[in-house]
Amino acid sequence: MRGTSMKLQSLRRTVLGISAAALLAAGAAVPGHAAEAADPVLRDLAAAHGISYGTAVTGAKLTGAYADVAGAQFDSITPGNEMKWGSVEPVRGDFRWSGADAVVDFAEARGQKVRGHTLVWHSQLPSWVENGSWTASGLRTVMTEHIKTAAGRYKGRIDHWDVVNEAFDEDGTRRQSVFQRTLGDGYIADAFRAARAADPAAKLYLNDYNVEGLNAKSDGMYELVRSLKAQGVPIDGVGLQAHLIVGQVPPSLQANIQRFADLGVDVAVTELDIRMQLPATEAKLAQQKADYAAVTRACLAVSRCVGVTVWGFTDSDSWIPDFFEGQGAATPYDEGFRPKPAFYGIAEALGWTGDPGPGPGPGPVDGCAVAYAVQNQWSAGFTAQVTVRNTGTAPVNGWQLAWTWPSGQSVTQAWNAAMNQSGASVAAANVPYNASIAPGGSVTFGFNGAWSGGNAAPAGFALNGRPCATGTAQAG
Ligand code: XIL
Repeated sequence: MRGTSMKLQSLRRTVLGISAAALLAAGAAVPGHAAEAADPVLRDLAAAHGISYGTAVTGAKLTGAYADVAGAQFDSITPGNEMKWGSVEPVRGDFRWSGADAVVDFAEARGQKVRGHTLVWHSQLPSWVENGSWTASGLRTVMTEHIKTAAGRYKGRIDHWDVVNEAFDEDGTRRQSVFQRTLGDGYIADAFRAARAADPAAKLYLNDYNVEGLNAKSDGMYELVRSLKAQGVPIDGVGLQAHLIVGQVPPSLQANIQRFADLGVDVAVTELDIRMQLPATEAKLAQQKADYAAVTRACLAVSRCVGVTVWGFTDSDSWIPDFFEGQGAATPYDEGFRPKPAFYGIAEALGWTGDPGPGPGPGPVDGCAVAYAVQNQWSAGFTAQVTVRNTGTAPVNGWQLAWTWPSGQSVTQAWNAAMNQSGASVAAANVPYNASIAPGGSVTFGFNGAWSGGNAAPAGFALNGRPCATGTAQAG
């Protein structure tokens, strides 16, 4: 399921990624709803507990408001894709470091640690490795050379390396990757030894998903770590990715962290995101806040848990909508870089006692209706107009309208709204001059989009998280 839609995703984001960021970078405040000076700073709160709070980033986006938040809030940066084998050595012997270099330089300039991700993984692996016809010694040389080159390049500058990623199947047996099939069980020990030789200062981690709670997969990982330690293999830590679902934080998370710690390794939560079925609602966002807090508390409770990294800090930069159909809103900030309840859940778990106030995001809506009309459609494109009416009794100050495309449409250009798309999920936020909608009032915005195969209207819309009636907004 991994690695397929990366190109499409980054293409869409290049087209659209400017809107909200440019709006905020230009200082155009969404009244009361942009990140505020009084907002807590996660890296400072975490430091007071001796843990780290980090984020994965997309290197190409590290400018403007995105860079400001990534730099100010987090003390550790993980390149989301830039250090993967397929990114750095797509063709044998042809190394491309500019993407990874830029992320490391960004972090160093802000006093942030870097988590190197990742050296040996079955996914986003170039075809020359995955599909080569290898002898064991041939592939072992290629693997250890790759580790030596990548870890060697950043020697002394990487805090933690994810040396081996996703080595297990769900039943706790080894995943049959090209490394496992060709080299057998010993490839993991070889990889860790090669990484230690290349960068003796980096903490070396084994990283995986669905190993957060006590289960068959984490049992397999536990047994491997125990045996690596017994053989004197240089492993320093275990990474729990933690791609979780709202309301489903494993109750045994803390016990599981503790059992790894008791083996004599550090533990980190390395890729935290907590996804939900879209559209987001206030209730789901409140549950997500509790879930982010619970994961943070579980780490705080075990002294060898060194920190938490979120896998993207903003919903506009999350892999979830592209990989889990209909799901999203998985990160602590919305698409306009406004802190969500989840952000305050993390801060509160880290001891912050301030008041999120009315400002953490667009305010509550007590009634709304949306009319969506395709005004013009041609072979591959269309123009649409959307009218949003406040049918409630309270003014709406700052708004964001979210929907999911039913048939693969994508936005290319918007007016009277700042639009962002991630996979099938779209968020249209107010621009400075139409942030307020009085009771009974409405705003209209429009956009051009691309379509193929079908151009059905979205099934539903949510205004600031509240589902809206459809089809009636233009009346009155
Ligand atoms: C994801 C990236 O976020 C996406 O941009 C990319 O298309 C696929 O990979 N586990 C991991 C990460 O270890 O490297 C994955 O990152 C998410 C799952």
